[in-house]
Amino acid sequence: MDLEELRTLAREAAGRLEALDSPETLESFRVAYLGRKGKVTLLFEALKSLRPEDRRTFGQELNQVKKVLEEKFEAKRASLSGVPKKNEEFFDPTLTGLRRPHGRLHPLTQTIREITAIFERLGFEVVDGPEVETEFHNFTALNIPADHPSRDSFATFYTRTENARENPFLLRSQTSTVQIRVMEKRKPPLRVIAPGRVYRPDQVDASHSFMFHQIEGLMVDERTTFSELKGVIHLFLRRLFGPDTKIRFRPHFFPFTEPSAEVDVSCFLCEQKGCSVCGGKGWLEVLGAGSVDPLVFEQVGYDTKRVQGFAFGLGVERIAMLRHGIPDIRLFFENDLRFLRQF
Ligand code: DAH
Repeated sequence: MDLEELRTLAREAAGRLEALDSPETLESFRVAYLGRKGKVTLLFEALKSLRPEDRRTFGQELNQVKKVLEEKFEAKRASLSGVPKKNEEFFDPTLTGLRRPHGRLHPLTQTIREITAIFERLGFEVVDGPEVETEFHNFTALNIPADHPSRDSFATFYTRTENARENPFLLRSQTSTVQIRVMEKRKPPLRVIAPGRVYRPDQVDASHSFMFHQIEGLMVDERTTFSELKGVIHLFLRRLFGPDTKIRFRPHFFPFTEPSAEVDVSCFLCEQKGCSVCGGKGWLEVLGAGSVDPLVFEQVGYDTKRVQGFAFGLGVERIAMLRHGIPDIRLFFENDLRFLRQF
């Protein structure tokens, strides 16, 4: 065997390798050329019988031939088995893409955003305040008397039970605290809306939770009348519940507003024919509101002769439950994807 013959053998082998089209023919090729008794392997035996001066050049070329054939063999094997070669990405443009799991906003977040968006268009600014509060901000400054039942430890979470009378901290039980926080810091005119969590030690059931969400609104200016409150609330509730919604202000009492009202919307489920949701009344209570009591302005150092304001507060869970027909408040907090995926 000389170099010429070796090259012919190499070409012949490469040609046959190229033409292979199945794993079986691939194997017979391997046996014929690269196996223990294969043509290429046997040539290494033949090296010994060459003259020493030829052995070097022939040996080098033979090594080269073996290496090239082995590489081509591997490439062929890979292409026949459909497995991508190393360092070469296998791309099939006909496969469907990978779908990334798509998150979504919690229904309460969606409700808060919808409501704040309506007020933002009316020039209200979204603000927030701390959830751990002082008795002053949660009660005193809001004109809630020292013996009011909502101050009881059965109605509010205090952080300390001993010496609770000396400046205790508490988990705010209403977002009305933010009215005080904002007025302490700023001068009128003010138009703010404050969504956030509130806490009450209520027995948990289908309509009560120890934590829930409220949205507080406050507007203060030189002249901010009750009729402006009505206008804003009418507009807001019609945006939220639909243009045909009827609205009713019922006289009520809140310590921090005077006069105060509870506001109802016509039951959109039964169109006021009477159903289980509205308790046969045809009306659904949705928020509390009123003109800011001058006693509250005094607590934050506003000149009660020069400013007027209105405030309102609503429960986010209640609104979301009404609008979506959700029967149990606990569903919001259980992280059950079967529930959450519906929104
Ligand atoms: N803070 C009241 C509550 O938790 C709701 C409320 C009523 C807020 C009347 C107000 C208001 O700003 O004017 O029940």
